[in-house]
Amino acid sequence: MCGITGYIGGNKTTDILIDGLKRLEYRGYDSCGIAVIDARNSLYLRRVSGRVGALDKLVAAEPVKGARIGIGHTRWATHGVPSEDNAHPHTDCASQLVVVHNGIIENYLELKEQLLFAGHKFKSETDTEVIAHLLEEKLKTLHVQEKAVRSDMLEPVFFEAFRRMLADIKGSFALSVIWARCPHMLLAARMYSPLVVGLGKGENFIASDVSAFLKHTKRVVFLNDGEMAAVKEDGVDFYTFQGKKISKDCVTIQWDSTMAEKGGYKHFMLKEIHEQAEAVENTLRGRLLPLGGDILRREIGLSADAMRSFSGVQFIACGTAYHACLVGRVLFENFGVPASADIASEFTDRAGLLSDKTLVVAISQSGETADTLFAVREARASGAKVLAITNTVGSTLTREADYVLHTHCGPEIGVASTKAFMGQLAAIYLLAGHFAAARRLLLETDARSYAENLLKMPRLIEEILEQEKEIAKVAQGFASSEHFLFISRHINYPIALEGALKIKEISYVHAEGYPAGEMKHGPIAIIYAGMPLLAVAPSGRALELMAGNVEEAKARGAEVVAIVDSASKKVIKASRYITLPLADELFTPMLTVIPLQIFAYHVALAKKCDIDKPRNLAKSVTVR
Ligand code: M6R
Repeated sequence: MCGITGYIGGNKTTDILIDGLKRLEYRGYDSCGIAVIDARNSLYLRRVSGRVGALDKLVAAEPVKGARIGIGHTRWATHGVPSEDNAHPHTDCASQLVVVHNGIIENYLELKEQLLFAGHKFKSETDTEVIAHLLEEKLKTLHVQEKAVRSDMLEPVFFEAFRRMLADIKGSFALSVIWARCPHMLLAARMYSPLVVGLGKGENFIASDVSAFLKHTKRVVFLNDGEMAAVKEDGVDFYTFQGKKISKDCVTIQWDSTMAEKGGYKHFMLKEIHEQAEAVENTLRGRLLPLGGDILRREIGLSADAMRSFSGVQFIACGTAYHACLVGRVLFENFGVPASADIASEFTDRAGLLSDKTLVVAISQSGETADTLFAVREARASGAKVLAITNTVGSTLTREADYVLHTHCGPEIGVASTKAFMGQLAAIYLLAGHFAAARRLLLETDARSYAENLLKMPRLIEEILEQEKEIAKVAQGFASSEHFLFISRHINYPIALEGALKIKEISYVHAEGYPAGEMKHGPIAIIYAGMPLLAVAPSGRALELMAGNVEEAKARGAEVVAIVDSASKKVIKASRYITLPLADELFTPMLTVIPLQIFAYHVALAKKCDIDKPRNLAKSVTVR
């Protein structure tokens, strides 16, 4: 997601912070900024909407003297559009405290209300700004007014206020603050979002990932969830959020900076595949319970009454996002809500048939896909309401939709979409659950079990990711194959399509996804001896039929790789298996897609393809 840098030590503070931000640029961002405390203990804050290069120029034009402490940030918008006001660092009312933050403060609306009531003035639309004001409030309650606290007491008071502030915020965060009255200490904390401390000589660093300071030191300490650090020039102390001092191991990083950008993974695609459990957590966080309640109204303005008022749902999108739409269609229909899904570029004539009784769900990672935007405009012209599911705050789609459900997956750099797809699925399941509960199609016990199934997904995803080596071996066996078939049924049929798309995009080989039952109506003719066929066959109502389809393919010579679970493995007879944890069939698309992504990745790797930047493709397709 966003990037954090922090520094305390010599007098090249702004250079070090800006260099750190440049090294975090690969993560994707829309705005950036730094804050330092100068020799006269005044806060120097510079922010821009746009690139770090522009920030660098701004700082060079008005250099700051004698700064030995500072923090910096690259922001990728989650709350509030990309703009200078929303860029970090954020300050308190007195512009004495300043904060940078990655993640999402779940209870920021509630905190903001209390702080506004207490007289605080907010300058941004972000969730982050509450941290600065809350900390200011905590300092007030510790009776810190000008000159009221002895200077030797400022550090412990700052520390205690910080600790109390942490106790009040909920959500995921890596954050760091500095205080102009206490310029010898930087505080940092982590909960569900990475943060690392770099140990230098007479200088120390913090960052959201090591690439920001690897040039200066390779000696690092990784914070765990619920831990904080008090960083000074001559050393760093570590504590729990309860204030208990702890000792932490220092690790020496062996990566070079390119490896560090990718978190040690060879490609962004692989890194992003491995970020999918987190993507689901981020998309669901604070939005699931109670299903059918007030959550979507409060966050995106979609009330339970509105959810009851629609006669049906129309999904539209392109590419991978369209495959998410197909899962959505089955899911909504499973609850008895009429739903259809269309490829955005094929939607135009159907748009005229819509009315204000249809909720159009437009899905787009970038929020800038021209075909999707065009279809959205046509749908709105027919009076339909549009709900956007997107990963990109402030994108065109968000400005044109009536409701916006952000997936909060963080920027996706690899052109082949993986974690964004997972976020889209999570958002669809979230929406379907709220819809079904609001329409009383999902009653209390079922709603609870639906939510429990969904909350289990991150753990099950992690379990599958642990099998990467075995999946890679299967994939390597097919590195020279020129044709691939992917088959499945019902809610996993879109996953067969997605598996085929992934391999086409990054390996440049021919691949087709087919509904398994449709094979015998024609496509079975293309099967030849040794042709790889990936059959997505978890337990569920499609299993017996899938077993028959696999037999038909084998009889024509197909080499079958079956994506199964421990129960369906007994029914499907294949030459190779990838075995997934057992899950309720309805939720399996979030699991079955992972081995197919890993499979595609390793076929492409064996073929030495340019995985993150496949030929002929662009990350965002802004032409029709
Ligand atoms: O940004 P969007 O989600 O609207 O993009 C839609 C497609 O262009 C995109 O999913 C494309 O198919 C990906 N490269 C798939 O990996």
